[in-house]
Amino acid sequence: MHPSPNTRPTRADPGPDSPVMETRVNLPLIRRGKVRDVFSLPSGGSSPRLLLVASDRISAFDVVMPTPIPGKGRLLTEISLFWLRFIEQRGIVQTHLLSGDAADIPDAALTPGGTTREQLAGRVMIGRTCRVIPIECVVRGYLEGSGWREYKATGRVCGVPLPSGLAQCDRLPEPIFTPATKEEQGRHDENITFEHAGDLVGRPLMDTLRRISLAIYREASAHAASRGVIIADTKFEFGIAEGVEGPILIDEALTPDSSRFWPAERYAPGRAQESFDKQFLREWLEAQVAAGRWDKASPGPELPEPVVSGTAARYRLARDRLCG
Ligand SMILES: Nc1ncnc2c1ncn2[C@@H]1O[C@H](COP(=O)(O)OP(=O)(O)OP(=O)(O)O)[C@@H](O)[C@H]1O
Ligand SMILES: [Mg+2]
Repeated sequence: MHPSPNTRPTRADPGPDSPVMETRVNLPLIRRGKVRDVFSLPSGGSSPRLLLVASDRISAFDVVMPTPIPGKGRLLTEISLFWLRFIEQRGIVQTHLLSGDAADIPDAALTPGGTTREQLAGRVMIGRTCRVIPIECVVRGYLEGSGWREYKATGRVCGVPLPSGLAQCDRLPEPIFTPATKEEQGRHDENITFEHAGDLVGRPLMDTLRRISLAIYREASAHAASRGVIIADTKFEFGIAEGVEGPILIDEALTPDSSRFWPAERYAPGRAQESFDKQFLREWLEAQVAAGRWDKASPGPELPEPVVSGTAARYRLARDRLCG
């Protein structure tokens, strides 16, 4: 990854595997999200297209850490591309994906001193530009995270009543759809009831998004189960694209950043689970908070090497099991 001083190339270009914290290309920047940099591509008369570049940034508690996880953006992209194609092949819903090939980035977008095509390879998705529906479509098959906290306090999750006596990480009688608002940068998304989501974007649209989200979750969970992975919960985003009827799936899908993945062989309800996602990082961060070294505000702390390599290893395990 990091070339030692005597093997460092003399040219200015960074190597293809050097960590990417921020992309620099000659395209209009739409936004830098916590993980992805989003640019608009020249459409050449066809419908508008986006270039989404997954960096090696990692966020936790909605704060982007100052330390990259080398290769994370590629793992995320590989996993997303796998699932977006899986979803399309099964005819569940159309997705925004047009290409995952860095060769499709126009030459004019690449500039001397900017991010190279080699660095972009494996990190990019070219997608249809959509009007984003401002609802996070969360599906839960198991009780953890904000769902578990809400259940303990109220016996419900996003208004969905659940049987009493469930334990942390218990499997739910059936998967539930628990929407959240999609807040602007820097604000935490908030769990809401299905009815509230319907008031915000329209009930017929929410009925459709619930049906599609549950269908994707069911088929993806079956595949993951066959690979020894439990998808405890996951979040989808949908958008409306010019010239396409009905909502389409956008953004990343079924990655360790948007889902809780648990190794099935270690699963036991009644406690927190080991995971193939950023739970490992979250636990280290909670220890920093408990020790008074961090207050969950930006900037996050520099991550020590074992946390970086341990996190990268978990993302690789998720990729190996799900897409290998
Ligand atoms: N096809 C698309 N059309 C328009 N916007 C898209 C599309 N696909 C993804 N996006 C948006 O691109 C951004 C991806 O960046 P990233 O996921 O890093 O953001 P984020 O910090 O998680 O922000 P958010 O909380 O809004 O998801 C998201 O805001 C997502 O809604
Ligand atoms: Mg996101």
